[in-house]
Amino acid sequence: MTSSVNGLLSVDFGVTDLKAAAAFYTDVWHLTPVADGKDALYFRGTGPKHHILGLHKRDKGELLRVNLSAQDEADVDALHAAVVKSGVSTVEQPAAITEPGGGYGFAFRDPEGRNMRIIAGGLRHADRADKPDHPRKISHCVLNSVDRDVAVDFYRNTLGFKLSDRTGIMSFIRADRDHHCIALVKSTVTTLHHVAFEMPSLDDVMRGGGRMRDNGYPIEWGVGRHGPGNNVFSYFLGPDGMVIEYTAEVDQVDDSYPTGDPEKWAWPKGRNDRWGVNDGPSKRMAEAEKRITFPADIFHPA
Ligand SMILES: [Fe+2]
Repeated sequence: MTSSVNGLLSVDFGVTDLKAAAAFYTDVWHLTPVADGKDALYFRGTGPKHHILGLHKRDKGELLRVNLSAQDEADVDALHAAVVKSGVSTVEQPAAITEPGGGYGFAFRDPEGRNMRIIAGGLRHADRADKPDHPRKISHCVLNSVDRDVAVDFYRNTLGFKLSDRTGIMSFIRADRDHHCIALVKSTVTTLHHVAFEMPSLDDVMRGGGRMRDNGYPIEWGVGRHGPGNNVFSYFLGPDGMVIEYTAEVDQVDDSYPTGDPEKWAWPKGRNDRWGVNDGPSKRMAEAEKRITFPADIFHPA
């Protein structure tokens, strides 16, 4: 296989109160509104990507779509052929993207019915300097998977992801230098586990955590430092109970990275991270990870 996905662009969330969710992601989470559509709003981070989050008015909280990037239109076409060949049930034809940001791409549902899209090109911002306490981009998206091995095989063999690490329940896969931009979790349901937004530094993760607490959003897990990826983390429940994370300092890896197995990443009793200063995920967070589903067909904005 020669063509690969080369990164994670953005996620589209369905939210029940578009105005309230927009206010949250702007004023509290520190993203910046950049475009709108019918019953939809798009937000950028400080990085170059046109937007990293799309919010769409829906009757319930949903993960509507995960948007991935490819190098160029030829790679989009080759990835489209690979997805068709893999036999997944729903694949659209590559075409010009008419939503804000543009580009050329196609949507499909992965082997467990998740809505995904691969896009090449599109708008990028020239102003891309870090701003203290403001997310740069989506760092990773973690997805619960009923058949983790089938899902991981698809992402590796069809989309060209590489396996960075595997624990007893999680597989961390990468598409660029970030240790992972997707992780699949062995579960009884196919849902959104969480989405992580990358902050410039640990200090910004801490400041973001303080601001979330000030606004009535307690830390549900953290602050801590993960094993695989070595990133620092702090988890919260955002609008419609979606689990969102501030993270920083994720390992930058290349093909020399030795893929770890579950034995390497087993924690001593009582530990859930490298630092050992938090109590582990809250019950609320454990429940929330299993609630947010994907739509039952290819997502199209209103
Ligand atoms: Fe995470």
